[in-house]
Amino acid sequence: MNFQDNVIHQACALLEQGELVVMPTETVYGLAADALNGQAVAKIYELKQRPQFNPLIIHVSDYEQAQQTAYFTDAAKKVAAVFWHDHPSPLTLVLNKKQTGLSSLVTAGLETVAIRVPNHPVALDLLRAYGKPLAAPSANRSMRISPTTREAVYQSLGSRTPFVLEGGACQVGLESTILDLTTDVPVLLRPGGTPVEVLEEMLGQTIQQEIGAMAIKAPGMMRRHYAPQLPLRLNCLEHGLEEAFLGFGPLEASKAHLNLSSKGDVSEAAANLFSMLNQLDNPSLFKGIAVMPVPLTGLGAAINDRLRRAACSELDQPLGVVPHPPA
Ligand code: TXA
Ligand code: MG
Repeated sequence: MNFQDNVIHQACALLEQGELVVMPTETVYGLAADALNGQAVAKIYELKQRPQFNPLIIHVSDYEQAQQTAYFTDAAKKVAAVFWHDHPSPLTLVLNKKQTGLSSLVTAGLETVAIRVPNHPVALDLLRAYGKPLAAPSANRSMRISPTTREAVYQSLGSRTPFVLEGGACQVGLESTILDLTTDVPVLLRPGGTPVEVLEEMLGQTIQQEIGAMAIKAPGMMRRHYAPQLPLRLNCLEHGLEEAFLGFGPLEASKAHLNLSSKGDVSEAAANLFSMLNQLDNPSLFKGIAVMPVPLTGLGAAINDRLRRAACSELDQPLGVVPHPPA
């Protein structure tokens, strides 16, 4: 058995015993548990200190495994063939659940299930070897920044960090797009690594993006989900004396503490978002973080969504209509 096989073997043994494993994906590192084992899933909420009513995404190795767990509509088959196989891109589908042994804690009692095939060799090795779906939210404590490196996982979970599968820095750097296909009109539940325009073109259909609907469909989606410890100000062209300044676009290196993308490239900015917020989120150095405007095009919509949640001052407030920043 080579080194990687051995590590995967160890991870499977732990999962089988109901333990958690940290798994790299192309979006962020996930805190994985056997989705059929309710006690294992409970450990996720406990370790993350996450509210119990927040349903989790389950991860599977391929479409064959996915269709054992959920009913695929024609639209779902179509997008799964493209984004889970031919041209992998981070996409979670919310579908009607089949009666399998899935822990109800995973779906927080809903009749639907959120499911995705990650595009990362280590995650896929693990899923194939384990053969059962894995529930996996981001591997961080609730209300903190999602980890895109192994170091960030340790930073957030500290001495309670479970067995970690190393997978390098996450390529996409922000969570999967969540698309609800249980209704006639598809609904975007969370903007993420796959731009909504790309999905609409693929489906040949407009996707409903009404934020109000999300609070009902996904009660766990909270505005403060992606919150740094320091207060965040958005759309800033200047920063205060004791504030960190997170730049975007071409500007003198000395002007910003860090720059999401000096080229002004929103995909590069997305890949840097969580790690840069994490680096600046240091109360011993700064009193707050000021962020420059990021355009709303492509992945910029997801970046702004994350930033608005992070900037929201009320804890645990369900999603309402959040004003867009000035163009
Ligand atoms: O990129 C990702 O998707 C990462 C990596 C680790 O794969 N995973 C991730 O999982 O973000 P998680 O469990 O944190 O995502 C949970 C989101 C929540 O906003 C939740 O409300 C929504 O998925 N969700 C889960 N099940 C749902 C359902 N049945 N209906 C509606 N929303 C659901
Ligand atoms: Mg998370």
